[in-house]
Amino acid sequence: MMKFFIKTFGCQMNQADSAYLSGRLIEAGYRKIENAEEAQIIIFNTCGVRQHAEERLFQNLKALRPLKKKKPGLIIGLIGCVPVLHRETLFRSFPQLNFLAGPESLSLVPDLISRSKNEEQIAIFDSTLPPALNLPLKGRGEAGVNISAFLPIVTGCDNFCSYCVVPYTRGKEKSRPIKEVLKEAEKMAENGVKEIILLGQNVNSYQAENKISFPKLLSQIAELPGILRLGFMTSHPKDVSPELFKTIAAHSNIYRHLHLPLQSGSDSILNTMNRGYTAAHYLQKIKEAGEIIPGLTLTSDIIVGFPGETEDDFEKTLAVVKDAEFDDLFAFKYSDRPKTKAEKIEDKIPEKIKEERLAQLWKLQDGISLKKNLETKGKSFEVLLLTESRKKPGFLLGKTENEKKILLSENTNLVGSLIRAQVTSVDRRLLYGQT
Ligand code: SAH
Ligand code: SF4
Ligand code: F3S
Repeated sequence: MMKFFIKTFGCQMNQADSAYLSGRLIEAGYRKIENAEEAQIIIFNTCGVRQHAEERLFQNLKALRPLKKKKPGLIIGLIGCVPVLHRETLFRSFPQLNFLAGPESLSLVPDLISRSKNEEQIAIFDSTLPPALNLPLKGRGEAGVNISAFLPIVTGCDNFCSYCVVPYTRGKEKSRPIKEVLKEAEKMAENGVKEIILLGQNVNSYQAENKISFPKLLSQIAELPGILRLGFMTSHPKDVSPELFKTIAAHSNIYRHLHLPLQSGSDSILNTMNRGYTAAHYLQKIKEAGEIIPGLTLTSDIIVGFPGETEDDFEKTLAVVKDAEFDDLFAFKYSDRPKTKAEKIEDKIPEKIKEERLAQLWKLQDGISLKKNLETKGKSFEVLLLTESRKKPGFLLGKTENEKKILLSENTNLVGSLIRAQVTSVDRRLLYGQT
């Protein structure tokens, strides 16, 4: 039995893809292990959203050179977004690579591995299979019960935000057939999954063949037996609607949480980013959401130092962040990416200014996050216990009904169940509590 090791970089979609591929490989007779040194097959599932992510990958690849020398039969493959961006040039930079496959060709990886045993180097970016078979159909196929599972409902992206490679790496947006999604959710619940997180680059544009939209799909999944918690990401501000907010409010098992990337608070930058909303629009939407969904928490993504971003543009971002009071943020320095429109804009912001702006943004957000967490002190929440904490032995990590992370000192046999807990203390990142 050949042993494989898979390392995943990047977003939740990549994590879902790795779980899918692991399932397919286990079905095909391979064994999954957690130690690269002992594997006969090493797969990196890669992210190209920022240059930094790519650099980390390339360092990892370089580190494999001695291992490949020691074990010439070792098969090394790259899957995910980076192979689509750099294609066969990767074979020149990293001759130790055996195969490359894009996110749309994952179902062909078992075949690529078999062929790698005989052939030199193979690359597949567009699958030759019909699209439906191409998507991650089933099998978060790993042994044992996972309390939490990702369920991709939309793949690809048609939004073409001007800074983003995803539409180039993951191809056109496709919604999975509703029957397939429901069947997979049911199967997950039967297998002991308690929390499902629906995934898509823009989940709100889900459109099933019979015109079922995202809020309807969300209610149907929420109503399946056994699903204690349901979440989803990512929502695009231009597409979230009162119907979505009402659906969340109407189901006690849907997390009262929206991850709603703002990207910038300046209308002119938002326009160049091709985001399709203004700052005022955004603030109006979150106000509406907050009115309809009691206890709503919000997180967001922000890019600082987009080409042409002036001090005034950046001040506008800070102002919206202050106004919106996000529970937390994912903030990034703008990174030039191949193929994107923003790469061609000349007015690039120096690295030092990007760093200063990022530090300033974090300073503001750290205060807001702490304040938001302090507001929960003394309150009681219904918590889904997800796992034992790796960082704090003896503690269990759970999520409140509005998807805030909480650490509890509790008996481990409660993992997978809902319990009532009171917040006793907080820091900037976490709540701490007891039952
Ligand atoms: N579909 C999702 C996720 C896209 S990638 C969405 O629309 O939000 C996740 C985040 O990475 C983006 O929200 C953006 O903030 C950031 N990002 C994407 N391209 C980037 C780039 N070229 N430089 C810096 N950050 C980037
Ligand atoms: Fe990228 Fe925009 Fe699509 Fe998100 S919505 S994946 S940021 S192009
Ligand atoms: Fe990265 Fe691709 Fe996800 S570029 S963020 S792995 S869609």
